[in-house]
Amino acid sequence: MRPSELWRTTPFRLTLMNGAVFGLAVLALMGVIYQQTAGYLTRQIDGIVVSEARNLVSGGSEHLPERVTQAVATDARHIGYYGLFSAEGIWICGNVRMLPPRFPIDGVPREIHSPNLQPGSRALVERLPWGEILYVGHDALVLTGLRSIEVNALLFSGGLALVLGLAAAALLSVRPLQRIDNLREASRAALKGELGLRLPVSRRRDEIDMLAGVANAMMDEAERLLWEVKSVGENVAHDLRTPLNRLRALLYRVSQETRLEGPERQMIDQALAETDELLTRFRALQRIGEIERRDRQAFFEPVRLQSVLEHVIELHEPLAEDRGVELAADIAADAPQVQADPTLLFEAVSNVVDNALKFTPSGGKVCIRLVTRPEGPRIEVSDNGPGVPQAEREAVLQRFYRAARTRNEPGSGLGLSIVTAIARMHHFTLVLEDARPGLRVALNCWPRGLEA
Ligand SMILES: Nc1ncnc2c1ncn2[C@@H]1O[C@H](COP(=O)(O)OP(=O)(O)OP(=O)(O)O)[C@@H](O)[C@H]1O
Ligand SMILES: [Mg+2]
Repeated sequence: MRPSELWRTTPFRLTLMNGAVFGLAVLALMGVIYQQTAGYLTRQIDGIVVSEARNLVSGGSEHLPERVTQAVATDARHIGYYGLFSAEGIWICGNVRMLPPRFPIDGVPREIHSPNLQPGSRALVERLPWGEILYVGHDALVLTGLRSIEVNALLFSGGLALVLGLAAAALLSVRPLQRIDNLREASRAALKGELGLRLPVSRRRDEIDMLAGVANAMMDEAERLLWEVKSVGENVAHDLRTPLNRLRALLYRVSQETRLEGPERQMIDQALAETDELLTRFRALQRIGEIERRDRQAFFEPVRLQSVLEHVIELHEPLAEDRGVELAADIAADAPQVQADPTLLFEAVSNVVDNALKFTPSGGKVCIRLVTRPEGPRIEVSDNGPGVPQAEREAVLQRFYRAARTRNEPGSGLGLSIVTAIARMHHFTLVLEDARPGLRVALNCWPRGLEA
């Protein structure tokens, strides 16, 4: 599972979005708390500043410098700022030696900005009844402390929320993603033609299950329609075979009982050959239908592939000799047995060997091999004939398709369709490869999907 996939899932995005909204709400809440607390503390500081100024002034002008000096001396935390200035603004005493520029002299506490003071510090400057100017200020250490507490809390809780949010989002998304992956796997197999496959539906009946249910219903319908279409073809083949047989018998009688000579005889013979060809095609079509409908397990038994191949070779040796093609074999004695229908396997390999002998020109070579792969045994039939170009390798498996370069050889284009049907029924894979030169047809005798 890639991170980009995780990001695209709805639970992941929803969780992150919820997290972001929650984070913003927390931020707003902290902001409001800070505003309220800072306002309250500022009012407190203002009160302190005003009452200190009042205390200092309450004794009158007498000993005021001493009281100011004392206030400075007793301020152990160094948060108080005091200054007494003459009517002209000349410093008399206190730890503030200069009046802040452009600061109103009206006895009202205000925020004061100075490099030595924390932001939010408050001060008042007041002209005393006897003309002197008094400065009383209070540093806002407490506000700075409050700010740093809030920033720390925000950083900590924000970081935690981010990590927890991402983890929760990932956790919530993994399960649906896995299920989607399963569905994807299942539909991929269905796309490859496994009509009986259905998408997994869990007992939860959530939105994914609903979609899988809809897809399954569609697949049911598609399968039903396909069977209908197929059976139409088979029914036609079945129904036409009787009249065709009769037609053939009739033609045969005509050819036997009339003493036709020359072109007329040739025409009758050609009509007979065409009828035979039609009958062969109908038989092959019916055979494919039979194989596709056959109950898979009914005829299955442990099969020694060596015997099947020996049988095929024995049967094809005379044909190979006739055509001047060398028929070689290389059969692994240790290849394991497979669960299969031996008659059908024989039919499949025969069809493939038949093709190889038919399409390989005289002097060529056909080799039948049985090899053992880690996944299971593999039957290979290779020849050094014309081969099938890459672009046509899928197509030659279809019914009636015959590759352009070999179209003048006899045949109806149904042999490989029968092989495909047999392979599919066994869950084996049929592979067409380039044998350089020629074609290699391989039957991987292990369940599809086991390949590395
Ligand atoms: N060994 C091969 N070498 C070259 N082309 C091949 C080979 N095997 C199959 N083909 C191509 O694949 C096509 C389909 O093969 P398939 O066995 O289905 O039909 P066919 O042999 O033409 O007719 P049928 O088997 O029904 O008598 C062939 O017409 C041929 O073009
Ligand atoms: Mg064939």
